[in-house]
Amino acid sequence: MKKKAIILGIESSCDETAASIIQENDRGKPIILSNIVSSQIDVHKEFGGVVPELAARSHVEKIDLVLKKAIKKSKIKIHDIDAVAATAGPGLIVCLSVGLTFAKTIAVSLNKPFIAVNHLEGHALSPKLNSEIHFPYLLLLISGGHSQFLNVKGLGKYKRLGTTIDDAVGEAFDKTAKLIGIEFPGGPKIEEYAKLGDKNFYSLPKPIINRGGCNLSFAGLKTEVLKISKKIKTNQEKYNLAASFQKTIEEILCKKTVIAFKEFKKTNFNKNNVFVVSGGVASNKAIRKKLAFISKEENFQPIFPPINLCTDNAAMIALVGLEKYKAKLFDKLDFPAKPRWPLDKNAAFLKGAGVKL
Ligand code: KG4
Ligand code: ZN
Repeated sequence: MKKKAIILGIESSCDETAASIIQENDRGKPIILSNIVSSQIDVHKEFGGVVPELAARSHVEKIDLVLKKAIKKSKIKIHDIDAVAATAGPGLIVCLSVGLTFAKTIAVSLNKPFIAVNHLEGHALSPKLNSEIHFPYLLLLISGGHSQFLNVKGLGKYKRLGTTIDDAVGEAFDKTAKLIGIEFPGGPKIEEYAKLGDKNFYSLPKPIINRGGCNLSFAGLKTEVLKISKKIKTNQEKYNLAASFQKTIEEILCKKTVIAFKEFKKTNFNKNNVFVVSGGVASNKAIRKKLAFISKEENFQPIFPPINLCTDNAAMIALVGLEKYKAKLFDKLDFPAKPRWPLDKNAAFLKGAGVKL
């Protein structure tokens, strides 16, 4: 019987050092044998954000141990690995370089192929780790560095339908959190604060809500949060601001998602319509609930990866590795770390002052 492929995935693009081992089953579907994530929250907490040099140093310190844990948990032997996949971008170059070099070294020492993985492709395909899902599908990728609607047509085949023209949603959550005095990373805590507040207390702007197709913008919202935060005195006011912010984000994402549904259907008529939401912000339960609701209203099947596969992890990197391994898409050892690596290379760069929508 043919041996089922075993792939090691390594992730180090930002502040999570992660290693995962996955194996395909008889039907070629991925089984997670181990998925170890070591977060650097304590390293960056006092600085209120990720400090690249400290992050890189922490990756160097931890990556060996994280790999050992992943091997032990998976119960395989390192020599059973068929290919080594690592995030090569986008991300912080000093951080990417650590995982990439580590992965290349293991691949060489095992004499196995090396596979460079786009971190965003990891988020895009992550629902395949626990759902039967077929191409094409509509993806809303919402993370700390990215906010995009994409038509996912296949491995390596993406058409961007919309993107943020300034901040990413996760960035807006983290900045709002910082302004109301929540420790980094504040995104998940905003969701908790929001439950205690009045969501209608502050009226916050929804930039480009009635124009720009399914493109997104959060900078104006952040500016308003900054203004309000300066006047806030009580905890209840903080909860109210968190609740109003959470509600505004939900409304923006819902409205833009309905536009993205229409865009997606233009090229996918008569097909099953599937809507995947992935990336760190997809772990926000209230956002999941709202997006699930409008999906059903618009006849889209909503799919959300489990929470631990929404935030950064190496199982999604190993998964892309497995798909590329099956397609024999291997990379050379001089493959560089890429700080910027868009999924749709034909999409226009839509950031900065003067963007016309
Ligand atoms: O995908 P991810 O782990 O890393 C990137 O690739 O960026 O996403 C991290 C982002 C952070 O901005 C974090 O605050 C946000 O996801 N996030 C959340 C929640 N959990 C994580 N934002 C809102 N609500 C949450 N529950
Ligand atoms: Zn990510």
